[in-house]
Amino acid sequence: MKAVILVGGQGSRLRPITYHIPKALVPLRNQPFMGYMVEFLRRGGLDGAVLSLGYLPDPIQAYFADRKDLDGFSLDYAVEDRPLGTAGGLKNAEPYLDRGDGPLVVVNGDVLTGLDLGELLEAHRESGAQATITLTSVEDPTAYGLVEVDSEMQVHRFLEKPAYDEVTTNLVNAGIYVLEPEVLEMIPADQEVSIEREIFPELQARGTLRAHVSSAYWRDVGTPRSYLMASHDVLSGAVGTEPGFEYLQIDASTKVGKGVKLLPPLSIAPDCVFEEGATVGGRSSLGRGCRIGRGATVEGSVVLDGAEIEPGAVVRGSVIGPEVRVGQDAIVRGLSVLGAEAVIGEGNVLDQGLRVNPGVVLQPRSLNF
Ligand code: GTP
Repeated sequence: MKAVILVGGQGSRLRPITYHIPKALVPLRNQPFMGYMVEFLRRGGLDGAVLSLGYLPDPIQAYFADRKDLDGFSLDYAVEDRPLGTAGGLKNAEPYLDRGDGPLVVVNGDVLTGLDLGELLEAHRESGAQATITLTSVEDPTAYGLVEVDSEMQVHRFLEKPAYDEVTTNLVNAGIYVLEPEVLEMIPADQEVSIEREIFPELQARGTLRAHVSSAYWRDVGTPRSYLMASHDVLSGAVGTEPGFEYLQIDASTKVGKGVKLLPPLSIAPDCVFEEGATVGGRSSLGRGCRIGRGATVEGSVVLDGAEIEPGAVVRGSVIGPEVRVGQDAIVRGLSVLGAEAVIGEGNVLDQGLRVNPGVVLQPRSLNF
C-alpha cells in the first residue's frame, strides 16, 4: 500500500525559514522532517510513497536521493508546474498509483504524529466509507479546520478556522486520510482543487465520509510556534515513537570551552564551538558548525547550520536560520525567526514573533522592543 505525501505548499507561515528550506525539510533534532514522515509510514506497514511536489522540489528530491537506507520503500515524484492545491496535487500523483493497490493513504507533509496507521486503516475498512479523515483534539482550534461528527463518526459539518465564539468542537482535521481509489475520479485534472474545502464537503453530502478520532501525539510544523514545540517534543521524547535525548551526544569535532554548560535534552550536530562560559539550555537543537560565543545563552531554540551567537548574546524560544550572526549582547526571544544570513548588530533586542528576512542587516542597537 502506498501513500501520497503532500509537500507542494509554500510554507508561508514559516517564513523566512521556508524561503530557502522547504517545510518538508526543516530539521527536528538535526534530522530533516521528511525522515520522521517516512518512519511514520513504514511503521504503519506502507511500502512506498508518491511525493506531490511544487514549491522547492529539488532539495526534497536530493534529500531522498542521498538516503541509501530506505530498502524496499519506493519513492516517486509528481512535480506541479503551478500550485494545484491539496486535491489537485493528489490528482497529479495519480499516474504513479495503481488502482489495484486498494485504499490510499494521503498525508499532509508537515504532520508529526505517533498515530497508529494500522488502526486508522482498520477503522476505514470496517466503516465501508469512501474516505476516512483523522481527527485530533487541540487546545486552540481557531487556527485549524474544525470537523463536527455524530456518534457514528459520520462527518456532518466543516468549519474552517472559526472565530472563538463559533467553536463547537475541539476536533480538527489532522491531515491524514484514507481514500478509496474512486475518490480520485472526483478531482478534475490540472486544476487547483482543495481536498478540505471541495472534495470532503462533497463526500460528506453523499454520506460517505467517516472520521477516526485519534488521541496519539499530533502536531504540525507549519508555524514558528508549532515548529519549535515539535522540536522540543522530539528532544524530550514526547512524540512517543522514540526516546528523548536524556543524555548528551556530542562527537569529537565539538569544541567545548571552560565553564560551558550544556543542559540536555539537546541536539548538537558536528563541528560546533562553545566558547568559555556559554550556556545552552534544554530542548535546543544546534545545526552543524554553529558557534556559541563567550558567556552567550541559547535556550529552547532551533539554531540552524553555521549560525554564530556572539559573546554575551541571548537566544530564547526562537528559530535562527542558517549562517545568521547574532551580535554581541543582542537578545532574540519570544518566537522570533531569523532568515538565512541575517545579521543582528550588537545590542539589538528582538521579541514578539519578529521575523527578519534573509540577508537583512540590523545596525547595532537599531531595534529595541
Ligand atoms: P502555508 O503557506 O503556511 O499555509 O503552508 P502550506 O500551504 O505549505 O501548508 P498547508 O498546511 O496549508 O497545506 C497542507 C499540506 O499540503 C502541506 O504539507 C503542503 O505542503 C501541502 N500543499 C499545500 N498546497 C499544495 C499544493 O498546491 N500542491 C501540493 N502538491 N501540495 C500542497
